[in-house]
Amino acid sequence: MLPRIIIHNQVSVDGRFDWIVPDLALFYGIAASLGEDATLAGSNTVLAGYPDEATWLSLDAEYEPTRREPDSSLPLLAVPDSRGRIRVWHLLRQEQYWRDAVALVSSSTPRDYLDYLERLRVDYIVAGDDHVDMRAALEELNARYGVKVVRADCGGTLNGVLLREGLVDEVSLLISPSLVGGTEVRSIFIAPELEAARGVIDLSLRRMERLEGDVVWLLYQVKQASRRGQ
Ligand SMILES: NC(=O)c1ccc[n+]([C@@H]2O[C@H](COP(=O)([O-])OP(=O)(O)OC[C@H]3O[C@@H](n4cnc5c(N)ncnc54)[C@H](OP(=O)(O)O)[C@@H]3O)[C@@H](O)[C@H]2O)c1
Repeated sequence: MLPRIIIHNQVSVDGRFDWIVPDLALFYGIAASLGEDATLAGSNTVLAGYPDEATWLSLDAEYEPTRREPDSSLPLLAVPDSRGRIRVWHLLRQEQYWRDAVALVSSSTPRDYLDYLERLRVDYIVAGDDHVDMRAALEELNARYGVKVVRADCGGTLNGVLLREGLVDEVSLLISPSLVGGTEVRSIFIAPELEAARGVIDLSLRRMERLEGDVVWLLYQVKQASRRGQ
């Protein structure tokens, strides 16, 4: 079974990620209300949280693959990482937000990276040939770990894959009272250009709230006709 997928992002009024400073208390407060069993984090989003590569690689070398006692009510963390770039699993597993972490990889993921995951005792799901086949990986998260609700915590790239593949059920947006501007695509939805209007994803508004600091929370449901392959 495919879990329910909720995209959750904070953006400027013109839909951009860059330069705005998300209000983390608001962001994670709303995130906690979404009832996720798993967080799906993009590999770029994860790596953006660990900019000092030399430090975390040296920590990795010292890491002993022991699991802390996780609170089983916490969500699981799943990260698509077909290129085998994430070397901070030990740090992610020490975070208090998740009960454990799972790598989503593909048949093209280097064997030595899978060996590394096995050495760290990080579970992984193999789905897809080049990049991760997200539908298959999400179905496996449900089958293996009973994941029913996934909150996507990622940038426009992974959002774009999920949206274009018709995998998203809801979109939760915190709108910051700011305008950024610019010419590069830094929106929540990066994907190949549409060739016909039928590719537009229609939404229906489920909630609208004014929060602290003039932030507005919008919760949309993706209309059934915009979902594919169900
Ligand atoms: N303001 C907010 O709410 C918010 C929230 C989250 C993130 N962000 C920001 O967003 C930025 C990162 O965004 P991003 O768009 O660069 O990256 P991202 O969405 O975080 O990561 C890209 C992900 O897409 C996967 N991917 C790429 N092509 C794919 C395909 N064809 N099929 C399946 N999976 C595919 C990649 O997997 P592989 O590694 O396997 O290629 C990777 O896991 C960061 O600066 C972060 O801070 C902002």
